[in-house]
Amino acid sequence: MDNIKPIIDPSRPKVYIETYGCQMNVNDSEVILSILQDAGYALTEDIEEADVILANTCSIRDNAEQRIWGRIDQFKIKKKKRPGVVIGIVGCMAERLKDELLKAVDIVAGPDAYRSLPKLLEAVTPDSPQIDVLLSHEETYADISPVRLDKNGISAFISIMRGCNNVCSYCIVPYTRGRERSRDAHTIVREARELWENGYKEVTLLGQNVDSYQWEDVNFAKLLEMVAAVNSELRVRFSTSHPKDISDEVIYTMARHENICRHIHLPVQSGSSVMLEKMRRKYDREWYLERVEKIRSVMPDCGITTDVIAGFSGETQQDHQDTLSLMEQVVFDSAFMFAYSERPGTLASKKYPDDIPYEVKTARLNEIIALQGRMSLKSNEKEIGKVMTVMVEGPSKKNPAELCGRAGSNKMCVFPSRGEKPGDIVQVRVASVTSATLICERVE
Ligand code: SAH
Ligand code: SF4
Ligand code: F3S
Repeated sequence: MDNIKPIIDPSRPKVYIETYGCQMNVNDSEVILSILQDAGYALTEDIEEADVILANTCSIRDNAEQRIWGRIDQFKIKKKKRPGVVIGIVGCMAERLKDELLKAVDIVAGPDAYRSLPKLLEAVTPDSPQIDVLLSHEETYADISPVRLDKNGISAFISIMRGCNNVCSYCIVPYTRGRERSRDAHTIVREARELWENGYKEVTLLGQNVDSYQWEDVNFAKLLEMVAAVNSELRVRFSTSHPKDISDEVIYTMARHENICRHIHLPVQSGSSVMLEKMRRKYDREWYLERVEKIRSVMPDCGITTDVIAGFSGETQQDHQDTLSLMEQVVFDSAFMFAYSERPGTLASKKYPDDIPYEVKTARLNEIIALQGRMSLKSNEKEIGKVMTVMVEGPSKKNPAELCGRAGSNKMCVFPSRGEKPGDIVQVRVASVTSATLICERVE
């Protein structure tokens, strides 16, 4: 019996990870934990007992990075009390700042260097911090089974590609994540099948621009079809779609498969064609509106959400009005809205001054947020009386006698419980709404 390891092995070093940024980072943390588990580490959710503290970081806006610097200071206080603790910064900020971060922490690893984490952890000493920020043209972590962080065990992310080739002028992602590469389609389908067999009910396919997925002769529409075919009851979602690339073929593929959720996240960034040109988005206002029309003509019930940037370089009051008028015309279900933050090294930082005063940016952003609040309410009011098919996520936060879950359109519904469990599918009718939630009754 001596050679059988106990399941909880106190001799294993414990690793704790915090995740910032986008869904791809959440999935990357799952990949990192899988790699470290295979290398003999145990995972912990308690930072106080961790031997290794990792932060998987984001560089998309300056405030995202400022937050991490604050966290690093807090980690260092812990290290003072327990000097053996190793602090590692991984992800986009590690890639962007490289050696600058190495002065502050023990390990720095970029998004394509996660396989070397065990080696870096082995080599690290107080006098020799370790860094690997090499970007790769091939790495997709295709063979790694991510540890799943979703506590319910019903919904999982699958990264289908990495990097981005789009060089939007304001964006740091191409510099932190490198060239775009698509993952072997068979490994994606296999992962979806394994998830389904393990009780998962929903997968979200992730990429910075899923519409440019291309592996051998499999494009994104074909991949969607392959994943939807894993099981007709597996709910399939995806993010993010780029307006310049979302094809009719993808729209028709969604329409053909009931289990592909009717939701498209289609970041517009600005309603002004002048701004879109400077942003290098490669579409204009008319093109964007045409894509929305096409989606709605094929799938009238399709949820459309977006991202908006306020106060990009040179944005005039008219450009801003164009954004507001586009939002009013489209009536997005919801939106992520940001003030422009200049990122060092991007094309915009070299070519276009960050010249909109802070107060103007903030005022415009607030106007955009207020308008979206009204649009979300309007979009939700249209659902009153409709029957929704919802996957139960768990108890509603406000009232434990109620459940919550998302409709296909990604709208959040709350409804009376009849004892269902997370992952169960229920039919509910929308009785009333707020700008954030559909308040539903049970359908007999
Ligand atoms: N790949 C996705 C978006 C990834 S980043 C796409 O192309 O749509 C998520 C969002 O962050 C972007 O859609 C944009 O709205 C915002 N963003 C990116 N860079 C930014 C910057 N420098 N300042 C403010 N917001 C930014
Ligand atoms: Fe950034 Fe543009 Fe790539 Fe999106 S498509 S990640 S905004 S460069
Ligand atoms: Fe942030 Fe990197 Fe994602 S910069 S948004 S974590 S790709």
